[in-house]
Amino acid sequence: MKKHRGKPIVPITDTRIDNYSEEHTTPESEEIKDLIRSSDEELEYIDMLSGRVVGQLLKILVKISGAKRILEIGTFTGYSAIMMAEALPEDGTVVTLEMNLRYQNIARKHFEDSRVGHKIQLIPGNAQDSIKSLNEEFDLVYLDGDKLRYSFYFEQALPLLRKGGLIVADNVLWDGTVLEPEDNKAKAIADFNRKVAEDKRVEQVLLPVRDGVNIIRKL
Ligand SMILES: C[S@@+](CC[C@H](N)C(=O)[O-])C[C@H]1O[C@@H](n2cnc3c(N)ncnc32)[C@H](O)[C@@H]1O
Repeated sequence: MKKHRGKPIVPITDTRIDNYSEEHTTPESEEIKDLIRSSDEELEYIDMLSGRVVGQLLKILVKISGAKRILEIGTFTGYSAIMMAEALPEDGTVVTLEMNLRYQNIARKHFEDSRVGHKIQLIPGNAQDSIKSLNEEFDLVYLDGDKLRYSFYFEQALPLLRKGGLIVADNVLWDGTVLEPEDNKAKAIADFNRKVAEDKRVEQVLLPVRDGVNIIRKL
């Protein structure tokens, strides 16, 4: 898989441990493997894609929480939307928000070809606006786009989330740079992690899985 972020500044886990974890995690469906292959052929970089360990973590969270309505910020080529849709019951839905036209078109094609595509609704446009137009209740929110504004999406998503529902935020260690944040993204993500940690409306566990996953539960 081609990468564009390069070498982590602080390794979160040893690469051998990452590889071992991945090898011992349930493999993706053939459909998802095809999506990875075609995304890799079509795009210069695909390291934005959540990957097997986070993808399978999402699937297990969807199943054990009994989630039926999922909101995703950041579709990219549709990997995590399809992974979560695979874990949903037949009447479940993933609403996924994406502003990049090229990614929307690729994702739409993957959803059309997918066995679970009928469970996925892609809302094109800037998620900062789209999220404000939603007034339905969600059981799980996957926060994986627009890293500078994680705190904004947290505030928007919390009222939409049922009591006991989950917000799963990816890349919350940002290659370890949250320890000494210098650039805007590292600062925004570090602020988000601090804000969540101080918020009495939620409980959370920040796991050093891949690039960091914060699993937040609404009390
Ligand atoms: C890390 S990728 C998502 C990866 C995807 N969840 C997966 O596992 O394949 C982040 C995505 O968020 C999108 N994005 C960034 N800012 C956005 C915004 N303000 N509104 C909507 N989409 C946005 C980017 O275009 C990109 O496709």
